[in-house]
Amino acid sequence: MCGIVGAVSLRDVTPMLTESLYHLEYRGYDSCGIAIIKNGELHRIRGTKRISELQKKIQKNNLHGISGIAHTRWATHGSPNINNAHPHFSGFSSKNASIAIVHNGIIENHEVLRKNLSKIGYRFKSQTDTEVLAHLINYFYNGDILKAVQQTIQHIKGKYAIAVFCKKEPNRIVGARNGSPLVIGIGKNENFLASDNVALIPFTKKFIYLEDTEIVDLTPNNISIFNTNGIKINKKIQIEAINSDVNELGIHQHYMEKEIFEQPKIIRRLLKNIKSIHPELFGYQAPNIFEKIDSVLILGCGTSYYSGMIAKYWIESIAKIVTSVEIASEYRYRDTIPNPNTLIVIISQSGETADTLSALKHAKDLGMKNILSICNVATSSIVNASMLSYITQAGLEVSVASTKSFTSQLFSLFLLTLVLAKLKNRLTKNQENLFLTDLKCLPKSIESIFSMRKDIEKWGRYFACKKNIFLLGRGVHYPIALEGALKFKEICYIHAEAFQSSEMKHGPLALITKNTPIIIIAPKDKLIEKLKSNIQEIKVRAGELHIITDSNNFNIQKNINFLKISETCNSLSPILYGITFQLLAYQAAVFRGTHIDKPRNLAKSVTVE
Ligand code: G6P
Repeated sequence: MCGIVGAVSLRDVTPMLTESLYHLEYRGYDSCGIAIIKNGELHRIRGTKRISELQKKIQKNNLHGISGIAHTRWATHGSPNINNAHPHFSGFSSKNASIAIVHNGIIENHEVLRKNLSKIGYRFKSQTDTEVLAHLINYFYNGDILKAVQQTIQHIKGKYAIAVFCKKEPNRIVGARNGSPLVIGIGKNENFLASDNVALIPFTKKFIYLEDTEIVDLTPNNISIFNTNGIKINKKIQIEAINSDVNELGIHQHYMEKEIFEQPKIIRRLLKNIKSIHPELFGYQAPNIFEKIDSVLILGCGTSYYSGMIAKYWIESIAKIVTSVEIASEYRYRDTIPNPNTLIVIISQSGETADTLSALKHAKDLGMKNILSICNVATSSIVNASMLSYITQAGLEVSVASTKSFTSQLFSLFLLTLVLAKLKNRLTKNQENLFLTDLKCLPKSIESIFSMRKDIEKWGRYFACKKNIFLLGRGVHYPIALEGALKFKEICYIHAEAFQSSEMKHGPLALITKNTPIIIIAPKDKLIEKLKSNIQEIKVRAGELHIITDSNNFNIQKNINFLKISETCNSLSPILYGITFQLLAYQAAVFRGTHIDKPRNLAKSVTVE
C-alpha cells in the first residue's frame, strides 16, 4: 500500500506532485506529505487529513522547487499521526536534514537496524520502519546518493519501493524496488517516479517499469537503471494510451456509482474480441498449456477470491475439471501437494496484491509453472510473472470497493470455463452457442438491474439503519452472498454475515431474532424448492425476510419483501445478483453518509502482507 511519487524537473514540481497524490490516494489515505528542496534546504509539509488539505497548506506556505518527493500513507508501523507521515528525513535536526525518503512496503529487519543506528547517535522521530532507511542512507552517504542507496539495500530485508533525494544533490532522485511497484515516467526536461503510472498520466505517456532489485538514478535529462549487481542496464520504454480524464467523476456522486454503471460498457468491450471460443483468447501459448492440465487451482484475495469461488462452480460443472480455490495468503504458508499439471489461475484487479503475488511465486517454486493471471492492469507485477494472462479491461477502478473489476473477472472466468470445456471436448456446438448467447445478453441484463434502481434505493434506505444483516445463498450464489456481505462491511460499516441457507440450522439460526434482517438470494434453479423450505424454517422463527429472486413462483407472503430481477442470462446469473448487491450496498452507504470511495482503514492496492 502507500503511494509514492517523485519528480526532477527544470520547472516547479509541487503542483505535479500534488496532482499525482490525488491519483495515488486509492493506495492509502491515513496521512500524506511532500518534501521539496528550496533555496538549498529541504522543506516538508505533512498532514493527517486528505490531499486537498495538504494542497492548501502547500499554497499557504508558498512551497515550490524543482525536485521533490511525495507520499500518501496506509499505516503499518506507527499509527497514522503527523510524526509517522512521510517523507522522512535524516539529519540530526530537521533543519539540517540532508536525506529525504518516501517508502511503500515493510522493512522486516527495522528493529535491529534501529537499535544499531540509535547506538551511533541517530535519533528517531517516528515509529516507522521507513525512518530507519532514511538514517541508513544518511549513514552511507558520501557525496553520491546512488551509492548510498545501493549500499543501504544490501542491509535491508523486506519489501520496498522508495524514492530518495539529498539536499546536496538537489536535482537528482534515486528510486529502488523490491516487491512493491515502481514506474519511471519520462518527460521533456523532467523525469518522474511513481507507484502507479496513473499518477503520471497527466504529464507523460512514456514509461519504464522497474523490476525487483533494480535501482534508478534520475535527473531532468537522464535516466540510468542498474541491476542488482550495480551494472547499468537498458530497459524498454512503453507508451501507454491512457487518457488523463479517466479519473473524472462526470455526473456521478461517487466513483463507486460511476464504476457500477460502467459495467455494461465494459462487457460490450470485452465481447467485441470474442467471435468464437478458442484458447488463444488467453495467449498464444494457451492451447499447449490448457491441453495438458488436469486440474485448476485459483488464488486471490478479497473480492477476487470470491470471483474464484464462483469460477469453481462453473469449471467443475461445465468443463468437468477438478478445481480448488484458496485465499492467496493461506496457500503460500500451507503444506500442499503440488501437481505440475495444475493450471494456476491468479485473480487480481491491481496485479500488485502482495499476498497474491507471493502465492504465485510460491506455486512456481513448487514446480507449478502453468500460470494464468486474470488481471486488470497489463503492466502489473502479477501479469509480468505469469506465463499467460487475460486482461479484464475494466479501466481504472478508483473506488476501494471492487465492482466493475469483479464483474469483468467473472466474465473472464466464464470465458476460461468455456475454453477449457471446448478443449477437453466437453462442450457441444449447441451448448457453445447457447453460452455465447448468454454472454452477449449480459450488458442488457445488467441494464435491467439498473432500471430497478428506485426499488433498490428503497431497500438501501431500509438497511442503512441496521446493525447486522445476514445474507443467504446456495451453490454458485453462495459466493455472491459472501461478496454482498463484504460490500456492506466495506462501505456501510454494517456487520454482515453470509451463510449457505442450508447451514442455518447448524448454528446461525441461534442468531435470528424478530428484527434480524435476512437477505436471501433465490434464483430460479434446481435448489429453489429446497431454498423455500429453508425460508420457512427461518420464517417460523420470526426472522425478517427479504428475498431477491428472478422466479415468478414465490407466493407473495405477508411480512416478506421481494425484489424481482427480470433477466438472469442462465449460468451468468451470479453476475446479475452481484451487481444488485453492489447497488444495494452503495445506496445504503449513501444513506449512512460514509466515505464510500475511501472507506476507513482500507486501501485499494494491498502491497504489504
Ligand atoms: C483490497 C481491495 C479489495 C480487493 C482486494 C484484492 O482489499 O479493497 O477490493 O478485492 O484488495 O485486490 P486485488 O487487486 O488483488 O484484486
